[in-house]
Amino acid sequence: MFVGCERFFRPGYNANLVDGWIPALDGVEEKLLAGAAVADVGCGHGASTVLMAQAFPNSLFTGVDYHRASVQEARKRAAEAGVHNRVTFEQAAAHDFDGGPYDLVATFDSLHDMGNPQAAAARIATVLAPGGTWMIVEPSAGDAVADNLNPVGRVYYSFSSFLCVPNALSQEGDYALGAQAGEQAIRSITEAAGFGRFERVAETPFNKVYEVRF
Ligand SMILES: C[S@@+](CC[C@H](N)C(=O)[O-])C[C@H]1O[C@@H](n2cnc3c(N)ncnc32)[C@H](O)[C@@H]1O
Repeated sequence: MFVGCERFFRPGYNANLVDGWIPALDGVEEKLLAGAAVADVGCGHGASTVLMAQAFPNSLFTGVDYHRASVQEARKRAAEAGVHNRVTFEQAAAHDFDGGPYDLVATFDSLHDMGNPQAAAARIATVLAPGGTWMIVEPSAGDAVADNLNPVGRVYYSFSSFLCVPNALSQEGDYALGAQAGEQAIRSITEAAGFGRFERVAETPFNKVYEVRF
């Protein structure tokens, strides 16, 4: 299952992350080129962490995931890619990972899997450096069920009902984002954590990318 997730999402990251999504964020590409600290929360096998590390050799990256086997695989992949001197992986939950301050925190298709996305947002708010950015990449979904009655929505509802929702419900927390989280649901999480700026900056048929700042 973890291998399948990574194989599903990685092509979208390969195609869009470095050339499209990061440049769409206000001032972030410049910081990463100069040398910044980045956390990738819910990093899985580290596909996105390794890609960013390869593209931005002056920056330091921390991947965080609570699943031990994924963290081990991510370490292996960073070593194979030759970026392990600038990338560390930590086995920790999104609501209490260590480190910071981070200039960029990214969550790649992981926020909706979390049992307590509000606590994760609060942790991210705490570890961000002044002027830092939270990049939220989430499966493409509309706010209403009817918005998701299309081929991509069908794929995601089926994945989510068998994988993401049971996973979130298996964790502690009173509220999870559910099978398809639209923009409003995600925005509400960020606002409750004290973030004042929320903007959708990019999208593909499979992902929406939000820039979140104070
Ligand atoms: C759908 S996968 C995405 C993985 C990776 N970001 C990618 O796109 O390939 C969601 C990831 O979130 C992690 N995850 C779920 N809940 C978590 C939590 N509360 N704290 C940390 N990681 C979590 C899972 O272990 C999984 O690796």
